[in-house]
Amino acid sequence: MTSQVLYRSLVMDAVSVSESAAIAAWALVGRGDEQAADQAAVDAMRTALNELDIEGVIVIGEGERDEAPMLYIGERVGRGGGPKIDIALDPLEGTSLTAKAMTNALAVMAWAPTGTLLNAPDTYMDKIACGPGYPAGMLDLDRSPADNTRALAAAKGVDPTDITVCVLDRPRHAEIIASLRSVGARVHLITDGDIAGVINTADADTGIDMYLGQGGAPEGVLACAALKCVGGQFQGRLVFRNADERARARGHGITDLDKKYDLHEMVRADAIFVATGVTDGALLDGVKVVNGFLHTHTLVMNSVSGVVRHVRMKRRV
Ligand code: FBP
Repeated sequence: MTSQVLYRSLVMDAVSVSESAAIAAWALVGRGDEQAADQAAVDAMRTALNELDIEGVIVIGEGERDEAPMLYIGERVGRGGGPKIDIALDPLEGTSLTAKAMTNALAVMAWAPTGTLLNAPDTYMDKIACGPGYPAGMLDLDRSPADNTRALAAAKGVDPTDITVCVLDRPRHAEIIASLRSVGARVHLITDGDIAGVINTADADTGIDMYLGQGGAPEGVLACAALKCVGGQFQGRLVFRNADERARARGHGITDLDKKYDLHEMVRADAIFVATGVTDGALLDGVKVVNGFLHTHTLVMNSVSGVVRHVRMKRRV
C-alpha cells in the first residue's frame, strides 16, 4: 500500500478517536475540575484507540509510565494487525480552558510512522513559528523578538507595526513582549493553548503572523505535525529547569540538550494531524447539543496529500 492510500484510509479513524475525546471532555466544560476533564478525555481517547486495527505506540502522551496509568509513553494501543504508528497525543489541550468554559480547548493527536516523531520529554520548549510562503531560515530563536519581527515584516512587505505575534500570557514572557512592542508589533496574548497559537500562523484569516514564547515541548511536536501538513516554519529548543528534566531528556535519547530543532527534525516523515474542538475557538467550533443532536467540528490534515479537511459530525443524543 502506498503511504498516500494508507494515510487516506487512516484519516477517518483518527477523526473518530479525536471526536470521542472531545465529547468526553465537553461533558466537564465549566465545571471547575481540570483533572476530571482531562481524565475523561484520556479514558475516551484510549478506549477509541484500542478499537482500531493498528499497532500504535504512544510516543508523546500523558507522561512516563510510573506517573501516568493511561496513555503513558511507550504504551501500546490498538487491536494490532494493522499499520505500525507512532502516536503523539494531548487528549485535552487546555484543561483549565475547559474547566473555566473558556475558548480554544481541543482534543489533539498526530500519527506518523514508527521512529519519526521527536520523543520530546515533558519539559518546556522555546518556540518560534510562522506560516508558509516565507524564505527558509527567516526566523531564528537566537535573534531578538524585535529582529524576527523585522525579518518577517520585510519578507511580507509590510511595516513591523502590521505584524501580529501570538504569545502565551505569562510573566516569563515579559521581555519577549517588550521586545515585540519596541518595534510596534501587535501582541496577541492567549491564556493557554499554544498548539492552536502555532497553527493559527498558517491561517491568514486569523491575522496571526508569528508565534513566539515558551510552552510545553510535547505541544511543540503536535504543532509541528500540523505545520508539516500546511507548511510553515518552526524552531524549538528544549528548556530545562533542573537536573531531573535533563536526565529525562537523555532518557528519551536526546544527546544534544541545546539543539535547535526545525519542523522537519521534530516530525521527520509524513504525518496525520487531527484536532476536535471542545470549546469554541478561532481554529474550531466546540462541541454543542442543538435540538437533540450533538455536533462536533474536527480539523484533519495529511501531509502526504496536503489535504486539509473540516469534518462536522452530527448524531442524535
Ligand atoms: P494543559 O492542556 O495542560 O492545560 O496545557 C495548556 C498549555 O497552555 C499548553 O498549550 C502550553 O504549551 C502549556 O500549557 C504552557 O504551560 P504553562 O501553563 O506552564 O505556562
